[in-house]
Amino acid sequence: MKPIHIGLLGVGTVGGGTYTVLKRNQEEIARRAGRKIIVKMIADKDMDKALSLADSDVTITTDAHEITKNSDIDIVVELIGGQTIARDLILEAIAHGKHVVTANKALLANHGTEIFAAARAKGVIVAFEAAVAGGIPIIKALREGLTANRITWIAGIINGTANFILSEMREKGLSFEQVLAQAQKLGYAEADPTYDIEGIDAAHKITLMSAIAFGIPVQFSKVYTEGITQLTGEDIRYAEELGYRIKLLGITKRVEKGIELRVHPTLIPMRRLIANVEGVMNAVVVRGDAVGATLYYGAGAGAEPTASSVIADLVDVTRMQNADPMHRVPILSFQPDLLSDTPIISMEEVETSYYLRMQVIDKPGVMAEITHIVADHNISISALIQKEASSDSDRVSIIMLTHLTVERNINAAIVQIESLSVVMSKVIRIRIEELNN
Ligand code: HSE
Repeated sequence: MKPIHIGLLGVGTVGGGTYTVLKRNQEEIARRAGRKIIVKMIADKDMDKALSLADSDVTITTDAHEITKNSDIDIVVELIGGQTIARDLILEAIAHGKHVVTANKALLANHGTEIFAAARAKGVIVAFEAAVAGGIPIIKALREGLTANRITWIAGIINGTANFILSEMREKGLSFEQVLAQAQKLGYAEADPTYDIEGIDAAHKITLMSAIAFGIPVQFSKVYTEGITQLTGEDIRYAEELGYRIKLLGITKRVEKGIELRVHPTLIPMRRLIANVEGVMNAVVVRGDAVGATLYYGAGAGAEPTASSVIADLVDVTRMQNADPMHRVPILSFQPDLLSDTPIISMEEVETSYYLRMQVIDKPGVMAEITHIVADHNISISALIQKEASSDSDRVSIIMLTHLTVERNINAAIVQIESLSVVMSKVIRIRIEELNN
């Protein structure tokens, strides 16, 4: 059978890995796909880099449009990133009847609805396994393996850089700034690491997983996003003392009022497997009503792990391309005309439990004042500890864990607590997820 022809847009880390793995495992991949998958063309601004990577029979160009419009190319693999040129190229490839494989989570989280509609109109496939959690086949698991289930929630460590920073802060007692500098030196964090540390990258990924899990449109604008820049070693230590570990989690949950969609630092019980995922590794827990909790673990980034996902998509597209579109696996798992409009609920309505820390003057009645406010807001305390400061200080830290409450109540209680003259700091507030049902 005629080989499938690939046009590769971008041969940076992932593009290079994709080329290398496709070549190295060509025979086995062909045995699985039923035909050879061959990189025919590469577009990259850096001609020399492309030339040093590719064999002489690959056409190299600096003009990506030569690929997206080329009638000899079956699948366009977009690994350029960004949301402007990449969007134009993907839409152009679709308009020319090409299937698209991409790792571009930012683009799909923001423009997925438009891109998927364009693909549907043209009867082509858009595949994006590599966009979420690098080499972990989580899209495949959600879209196919768990298809019998009503998914109840997903919680994932889906940004390796942030997880590396939190792991090092905990294990080595280093500050956020120290570890961030180290992560940049090691090449984990981008030179501009904002997307990693502010939770935006994780928000892109949880947006995509939420859409597939619940059969809703991708809605990046509705994700609540809070990064790890404010976390201190103190909170990481106190969490440990209380039996918890702090992780940056992407969370999406089906609740009575709608769907929760959020990214924030989270205390999770140390005994959960996912609490022990350290360094740059990723892990995703998916709970389905039939299967219960399932855990997926692996490398969330890197050349070959991400290439593993890109190539899995290439094989899928190769196998499915001749099926009529109605008989392919739908892009978001649910039939596109059967997506639901279940609302994403606001953060104020989210119900969870909380870790609170504050610095107060150490004198009689202070604890009573604080617990009064908490009780007035219908919040129940599950643990309370007081930490002495140095002997010459009149201040102490109070750490409080609450039972489940709605975020609106906690916010209101925090405003009142912070207005007390005996409270000398902002109240640090970190959400807790038990991840047990
Ligand atoms: N920057 C991402 C991370 C990798 O640190 O996990 C690619 O998604």
